[in-house]
Amino acid sequence: MAVRSKLPQVGTTIFSVMSGLAETAGAVNLGQGFPDFDPPERLLAALDRHARGGKNQYAPMAGLLRLRQAIAGKLARDYGAEPDPEHEVTITSGATEAIFDVIAALIGPGDEAILLDPCFDSYEPAVLLQGGRPIHVPLAADFTPDFERLAAAFSERTRLVIVNYPHNPSGAVLAPEHLETLARVLRGRDDVYLISDEVYEHIVFDQKPFQSVLRSPELRARSFVIGSFGKAFHATGWKVGWVVAPPELSAELRKVHQFVTFATSTPTQHAFADVLEQEPEHLQNLSRFYQHKRDEFRALLAGSRFRLLPVGGTYFQLADYSQLSPEGDLEFARRLAVEARVAVIPVSALSATPLERRLIRFCFAKSRETLALAAERLVRFERGTP
Ligand SMILES: Cc1ncc(COP(=O)(O)O)c(C=O)c1O
Repeated sequence: MAVRSKLPQVGTTIFSVMSGLAETAGAVNLGQGFPDFDPPERLLAALDRHARGGKNQYAPMAGLLRLRQAIAGKLARDYGAEPDPEHEVTITSGATEAIFDVIAALIGPGDEAILLDPCFDSYEPAVLLQGGRPIHVPLAADFTPDFERLAAAFSERTRLVIVNYPHNPSGAVLAPEHLETLARVLRGRDDVYLISDEVYEHIVFDQKPFQSVLRSPELRARSFVIGSFGKAFHATGWKVGWVVAPPELSAELRKVHQFVTFATSTPTQHAFADVLEQEPEHLQNLSRFYQHKRDEFRALLAGSRFRLLPVGGTYFQLADYSQLSPEGDLEFARRLAVEARVAVIPVSALSATPLERRLIRFCFAKSRETLALAAERLVRFERGTP
């Protein structure tokens, strides 16, 4: 019996494709965005303690209150925002679930969601599953929003805009003026909500403070701000995320969340609450930790013909490879995996609108040894030496 697919155009994600290729080719995997090192010892010990200590049954639907309180405390310290843990903070099974829940709560058939290209690949299918229309708007050349194009993309059916800073795949970050302009563009559009995907909030370089949407009371009033512990604690496989939104928006989000997963893993939530309470230094040191990796990786490729774009945050490095090859990025990435034995992400796979440049994305959340091996292979490949 033929299945009538709700997502006929969707195949396996580019991240799984490149990870699969990395495995068969014996390539170093700088493709999918995850660290090749473990979470902090204190977090591992806390998970073990809570799992052995009987914290193994369903957590409250909206998340453990002590974890929500710890998140609210962190946001108050970092951004001067003081969300009410009871009514404005919800724990989800990763940021991916949070994104899906918000879209399902807001988008109905024919509603439009504006996505800024290139962007994380879970946004569009979630909109399509609700019968919504993704409206793709390209980012500016420096990967900040092109506000003129954004303003021109609104229609009477627009319900949602999704922004993501620090930005995957480019590593771009926003300046305070960008938040002000975003607020101005949205002003007066009372039916339009904002998802601010801030999963890389703790990885911002060069001593710049992160410009969370939570710093702007005007934006915050219409926003779902999404975070992920996976990115911040080297634990992407644990899938714990959170959403901050005003009470009436959180109530709608929770209606979906309670029937998608109901609740998120209990011992894991306890473990994150412990480290947030007891080890705030981990998050305070994270930008420095990754800045060091960024600098090391860039230095290793400095003499090569890969042109490295500036990186203000995240653990991604974009490279323009046009001096090496005229191929399209998908073709080039496949060849790089097989011939150089380094797996990367072709950036066009994350963009429905054509890109001006041919770009690949490296993930530098890797050990020194992994980065050194990858760089050695990349340099040999670009010099044409076997
Ligand atoms: C921009 C962005 N949003 C969301 C996610 C998903 O986060 P999680 O693993 O918590 O579901 C990712 C993961 O790569 C991401 O890069």
